[in-house]
Amino acid sequence: MAEYRVGVLGATGAVGQKFIHLLRNHPWFKVTALGASERSAGKTYRDAANWVESSEMPSDIADMVVTTCEPGKMDVDFVFSGMDAAIAGDIEMAFAKAGIPVITNARVYRQHENVPLMVPEVNPDHAELIHSQDFDPNGKGFIVTNPNCVCIPLTTALKPIYDAFGVEKIILTSMQAVSGAGYPGVPSLDILCNIVPYIGGEEEKIALEPLKLLGTLENGKVKFADLPIHATATRVPVINGHLLSVTASLKKKPASIDEVIDVVKNWKSPIDDLNLPSAPKPPVRLYEDPRFPQPRHQSEYENGMQVGMGRLRMANVMDISFNALGHNTVRGAAGCSILNAEYLHAKGYFK
Ligand SMILES: NC(=O)c1ccc[n+]([C@@H]2O[C@H](COP(=O)([O-])OP(=O)(O)OC[C@H]3O[C@@H](n4cnc5c(N)ncnc54)[C@H](OP(=O)(O)O)[C@@H]3O)[C@@H](O)[C@H]2O)c1
Repeated sequence: MAEYRVGVLGATGAVGQKFIHLLRNHPWFKVTALGASERSAGKTYRDAANWVESSEMPSDIADMVVTTCEPGKMDVDFVFSGMDAAIAGDIEMAFAKAGIPVITNARVYRQHENVPLMVPEVNPDHAELIHSQDFDPNGKGFIVTNPNCVCIPLTTALKPIYDAFGVEKIILTSMQAVSGAGYPGVPSLDILCNIVPYIGGEEEKIALEPLKLLGTLENGKVKFADLPIHATATRVPVINGHLLSVTASLKKKPASIDEVIDVVKNWKSPIDDLNLPSAPKPPVRLYEDPRFPQPRHQSEYENGMQVGMGRLRMANVMDISFNALGHNTVRGAAGCSILNAEYLHAKGYFK
């Protein structure tokens, strides 16, 4: 079995902790370096991190000393990044230039024309963009991003329908968990017994990122999908799991909802045959009971990696309507990065 020495940048934050949690006992990836800000550097991870995971902090990680995020300080094969977007850009580029691949959650390079914005079940072929990156003259270092935590369940649930019928436009409302705001996140007096009807910066990402994810590779560039999306992003008093309510117009009109249901149920994701360690089976689970999926009950299915889909029905306006659920810090962040890295290993991108 391959074993890679892996660094986690932003290891003390909410997403960084999820990396540590998900990488315990990983068959291929072993965490050997932890990076964070000057505030944490020099401390043991036990002292630096305000551990908010419900599992115990792994004892080998607890004793490791956190460093600043500099390539020269980390003897690793590649890094995962869960850094604050405000500072991630220069640091991630420094790693790529130093020949250390960066698999990141931060948004900085998501729209860079040579950087894949990738969900393995949706657009694994976009990994080919790596060949057009010239950040590292030796060709070892590169950057791969994953999208925003709403766009992952949205595009994964939509992909079978998009391929079979084409999608003309979408209106959606997201009901986003508080853990999506990091720690300590949303003030308790704002969110207890309440819904906040706006999340700054979120609706723009939801309108843009699916267009790259669902785009096609043409002459080494991504041709974005032509798909107007109108999004309303709300924060709800739920700890984990973003639930979306989606209504879509389709290009090819289905004869009945059963035709759409068949397409979703029989969908084979492009990575099914690779048997990657973190890949959920199936990637999308369609619930027939209209009460599901619910964040509290179904977010953790398949180790938090499965996208739940429910209430798939014909719509009175536009064509179809459904709910989609994704665990925001697992499927929507660290877990998607880990699955990206597993795919990149399987396809020989790590040199
Ligand atoms: N939470 C989610 O559901 C979610 C989902 C998808 C994507 N994301 C993205 O993932 C990233 C992390 O989010 P989060 O919620 O985990 O944030 P967070 O809890 O605030 O953690 C931020 C991390 O960045 C580190 N950091 C801050 N300044 C730094 C510097 N100058 N140099 C090096 N490291 C520095 C922090 O280290 P210290 O502890 O030392 O300050 C901490 O480890 C963000 O880009 C976010 O947009 C989050």
